[in-house]
Amino acid sequence: MANDTKTTQHRCSFCKRMVTIHDEYDMPIYDPTTGFAICKNCIREINHYIDMHEAETKQEEKHDFAGQLDEILQKNKPHIIKQYLDEYIINQDRAKKILSVAVYNHYKRMKYGYENDDGTEIEKSNVIMLGPSGCGKTALLSHLSKLLDVPFAVTDASTLTEAGFVGADVEVAVRNLYYAADKDIEKAEHGIIYLDEFDKIARKSGANNSITADPGHEGVQQGLLKMLEGNVVEFTARGQRKHPEAPTIKVDTKNILFIVGGAFVGIDDIIARRLQKADSSIGFGAEVASKDEKPKFDELIHQVRPEDLMHYGIIPEVIGRLPVICTLESLDEDALLRILTEPKNAPVKQYEKLLAMDHVKLEFDKDALRAVAKKAIERKTGARSLKGIIEDVMLDVMYDIPKSSEPRKVIITKACIDEGKKPDVVPLDK
Ligand SMILES: Nc1ncnc2c1ncn2[C@@H]1O[C@H](COP(=O)(O)OP(=O)(O)OP(=O)(O)O)[C@@H](O)[C@H]1O
Ligand SMILES: [Mg+2]
Repeated sequence: MANDTKTTQHRCSFCKRMVTIHDEYDMPIYDPTTGFAICKNCIREINHYIDMHEAETKQEEKHDFAGQLDEILQKNKPHIIKQYLDEYIINQDRAKKILSVAVYNHYKRMKYGYENDDGTEIEKSNVIMLGPSGCGKTALLSHLSKLLDVPFAVTDASTLTEAGFVGADVEVAVRNLYYAADKDIEKAEHGIIYLDEFDKIARKSGANNSITADPGHEGVQQGLLKMLEGNVVEFTARGQRKHPEAPTIKVDTKNILFIVGGAFVGIDDIIARRLQKADSSIGFGAEVASKDEKPKFDELIHQVRPEDLMHYGIIPEVIGRLPVICTLESLDEDALLRILTEPKNAPVKQYEKLLAMDHVKLEFDKDALRAVAKKAIERKTGARSLKGIIEDVMLDVMYDIPKSSEPRKVIITKACIDEGKKPDVVPLDK
């Protein structure tokens, strides 16, 4: 030791032992001015302590969640979820039922997974939702998400592209869920992913499209397939560019429930063609179909089969992983009328509340509301255009009203909607 000039000795401030320093790793922390030092044994010890503590906390949280599952199941029975959705969404009873059962079963699968290790697995049932534009697909899911006890993330599938193309990689869907789970991987692994605008990733060479080559969309579907199959998905943290050394986060998608939804414009024609073919091949019906007017969208959409989705441009492997097909109906005038006033956040209620803040009572004549619904039907965008139609009338009202603080009443009549007449403003009778 005495003739070894390279080694020195320092005392560890923690364990107080003298440590011979061969290289910097023998005493990873050493401050020559104060003499403060921590030896590698102590650091190892501290690390071990922290790891143990984290593992214990995780285990406790896991037990906590497993323990909560009974309670979660109690308050999330399908009929209770549906009742909640009824408060916001008009019609679409079947879709509400399917989603309520899907969520309830998702919790049940989790409970089973925590309690059993017998090799039997309850398979998940991913859901595909089809329905015309503005019929409530996105709205249903956004209300459902507020009720959930597991992380939930919506990703717009139309923004996804195959790796190498400009846009977001498919992994973004899982990354969004990871952030919705406050970066808790285990929670994310039990979450629900909603892929909106799913029809936009249909192969362009599908029967519904004329362009023949479309590697981008096919690639997106292949990427999604990996997730739907339950592989481990690897992604970098938000804002970090993908490069070989970037640290990645790994999430197992085996237990993630996938719900996808889209308008699938034109799928009714594909269904009609299939039905017509089937009819003519058994020798009757073709005549009926030609005599009849074109069958209604709603009648057709409810008869959708996996092969129609395939024709539309979704690859068979993906369809196979979406066993529950949920169709939504288009909204007729009566449904639109109800949407204007009945849901908890109905457009009319929202404007009433806004004007009430200026001491103004808002009144819609019954036939004014019907006129709004009629106009929305003409625009063919489902309930989506309702708010815009009312907004057109309300803009001037909302601009002029705050000029005075007098309590007043604003009456919207049919003429205001149809002819753009200025609404009557009268003093509010005491
Ligand atoms: N059945 C419904 N009940 C109540 N409100 C509805 C209903 N359908 C649609 N709306 C309202 O209409 C608007 C548009 O609906 P939403 O975004 O859910 O349409 P979508 O089915 O997702 O259409 P797209 O296929 O074009 O995305 C939302 O503001 C929503 O609140
Ligand atoms: Mg939508």
